[in-house]
Parts: sequence; C-alpha cells; structure tokens
Amino acid sequence: MLYGLVGLIEVGGERFSGLMPSFSQIEDIELAGIANYLIRSLNETVVPNEFLAYSAEDFAASRGKGMRQVDMYKMRRNMEKQVTAATNEGGR
Ligand code: HEM
Repeated sequence: MLYGLVGLIEVGGERFSGLMPSFSQIEDIELAGIANYLIRSLNETVVPNEFLAYSAEDFAASRGKGMRQVDMYKMRRNMEKQVTAATNEGGR
C-alpha cells in the first residue's frame, strides 16, 4: 500500500499482470484501518484467530525505505519462495 506493486502475480490460481500505484499519501491510521478491514472482511476463513491488527505505527515504521514497485515485487517473490519451502518441510 505504501510502495505499490508491478509484475506478474498469481493469486488463487489466477494470474494478474498489472501495476498498483503507491498510496503513501494516505495517513498511517487510515492505511491501517483499510488493511484491517480488507483482511477481516475478504479473508475471513483464512485469517488465524491470533491475527494482530495493523496499527498506524506499523505503517509509520515502513515509510521512508525508498522502495519502488519493482522492489515490492521482488519481496513478494521471496516471500512466496519461503512459504513454499516451509510448506514442503512441514509435509515431510
Ligand atoms: C486502498 C486500496 C487498495 C489496497 C488496500 C490494495 C491492495 C493490494 C494488494 C495487497 C495487492 C497485492 C496482492 C498480492 O500480492 O497478492 C494489490 C495488487 C494490485 N493492485 Fe491494489 N490495492 C488498492 C488499490 C488499488 C488501486 C486503486 C488500483 C488501480 C489503480 C490497484 C491495482 C492493483 C493491481 C493492478 C495489482 C496487481 C499488481 C501486479 O500484478 O503486480 N490497487 N493491491
């Protein structure tokens, strides 16, 4: 939300190749509210009970990192790899 995203992603078996703009003009408290609302309303069945809501401080701490949309894409790819590796390990 702070830095946007660009590149080909796969979500729920569907592929999206687009560009999401940065929303850093929105205040931290509002970004936290949007994130928490979307996580809870759209992902009800997969959000764990121990999910801790995002705070304004979380967003404040993520600002000023000089990240670009393509950096977010790389970060997402790395997270996917970690999840895949963890899932494979758990299955053994
Ligand atoms: C506050 C409103 C918004 C929120 C919370 C939001 C959130 C997100 C998130 C979390 C993702 C990544 C999904 C993933 O990695 O699996 C995403 C992707 C994306 N968003 Fe948004 N978004 C918002 C508004 C918008 C708007 C206004 C646009 C279009 C102008 C947009 C266009 C896109 C596109 C095209 C992608 C896919 C990017 C890619 O394929 O690399 N989003 N959005």
